[in-house]
Amino acid sequence: MANQQPNAPGGAPTNQMWGGRFTEAVTDEVAAFNASITFEQRLARYDIQGSRAQAQALEAAGVLSAAERLAIDDGLDAILAEIEAGQFPFSIRLEDIHMNVEARLTERIGDPGRKLHTGRSRNDQVATDVRLYLKAEIGRILALARATQRALVTCGRAHQDVIICGYTHLQKAQPVLFAHHMLAYVEMLERDAGRLADCRARLDASPLGSGALSGANIPIPRDVSGPAMGFAGLTQNSLDAVADRDFSLEFMAAAGICMMHLSRLAEELILWSTHEFGLIELPDRFCTGSSMMPQKKNPDMPELIRGKTGRVYGDLIALLTTMKGLPLAYNKDMQEDKEPLFDAVDTLAGCLSITAAMMAGAKVNRARAAAALSGGYLLATDLADYLASHGMPFREAHEVVGRIVRHCIDRGIEITDLTVADFQGFSATFQADIADYATIPASVARKSQPGGTAPARVAERLAFWEKTLP
Ligand code: ARG
Repeated sequence: MANQQPNAPGGAPTNQMWGGRFTEAVTDEVAAFNASITFEQRLARYDIQGSRAQAQALEAAGVLSAAERLAIDDGLDAILAEIEAGQFPFSIRLEDIHMNVEARLTERIGDPGRKLHTGRSRNDQVATDVRLYLKAEIGRILALARATQRALVTCGRAHQDVIICGYTHLQKAQPVLFAHHMLAYVEMLERDAGRLADCRARLDASPLGSGALSGANIPIPRDVSGPAMGFAGLTQNSLDAVADRDFSLEFMAAAGICMMHLSRLAEELILWSTHEFGLIELPDRFCTGSSMMPQKKNPDMPELIRGKTGRVYGDLIALLTTMKGLPLAYNKDMQEDKEPLFDAVDTLAGCLSITAAMMAGAKVNRARAAAALSGGYLLATDLADYLASHGMPFREAHEVVGRIVRHCIDRGIEITDLTVADFQGFSATFQADIADYATIPASVARKSQPGGTAPARVAERLAFWEKTLP
């Protein structure tokens, strides 16, 4: 086999990268169990980027000649092309992406390839690869988060004048603008984006040159390789650099929180799509039918987003659990870091993308929105505030309005059905202006403090986001 050499007594093949001290090769079962190449091929381009930077630093250190460095660069170009064409012969016997690339390079260019690992370990290599990967993916996810915010703003703008019933405890509470509700998620996603950007800024340091755990014996300039890969800085402790995966954990924590936000929006879309709420109509292209019940239109996309949230939490907990008992520095357990990370990246990116597309096409049923404003005594707080602003202690006002609500419930009428005289029957504090005060639009318009749901405030915030979001 190309990737093995018969260097052990009796000719048993061992690994060509570390086989020197071994007398027998691992079994096929162990090779398969040990390998990470089956799930980390997406790191290839970053591994190659890291090797280019390593070659540059080795040239600066005088370990490689300029010609050798060029040969390495060309060889890596060819390997990247092979990988992109799907023609790279990945081998489980070569365990991981690092040894697959290095072995292929040596196969192609000979000796310079054999020099590339000078002063380098797979421990600093894998830390480098994953940081590069995550840095790029966070950039992509931030763009998707922006697109999702954009879609929510667009949806809010398209229904700018729609007032909906706001809830607490899923009980009717107070009227709010639909756009205000959309903008609540825009704010959440803004903080999610901030967390992801923080994570990216913190991971933006090159671990290359940390070696297996203590650094390198040869002065290979880290300040050449780090900037060559576009890292903003260098890690400052070799043990830390090879042993921690807090950057992946931080990403998954931020991803988990973002998924929680998407899941709450998804839950509302599901609820609002029901016959009972009927507040929103999702485009058919985001729903599916039932194989048995011809009438069904199921909100599968939001349901899947809600469902996938659990996966991302699981990804975080899996790696936290893997890491918690590990003595410094690298331990093979840490190879288990990649599958959860990749899953969290893919899941979050997919959910953001679907949410953005779905919200851009969501339509509010205005008649149902208006109908939902009655029946819940949404103006009760307004009445109490009216009395309080006319000098009545709020606790007393609360009591008075409680009696008004009881009166309405008993007669099956709305607060807006009451006359000024009716109001005054409950308290002499009520004046004639209560008629104009106790309306849904007036209630919404009064919430004009910063962050309130008044149309003027919401219009400002919509305009702010339209200006701010790319
Ligand atoms: N595939 C390994 C991982 O993902 C790379 C580092 C292996 N290092 C080692 N000393 N075996 O963690």
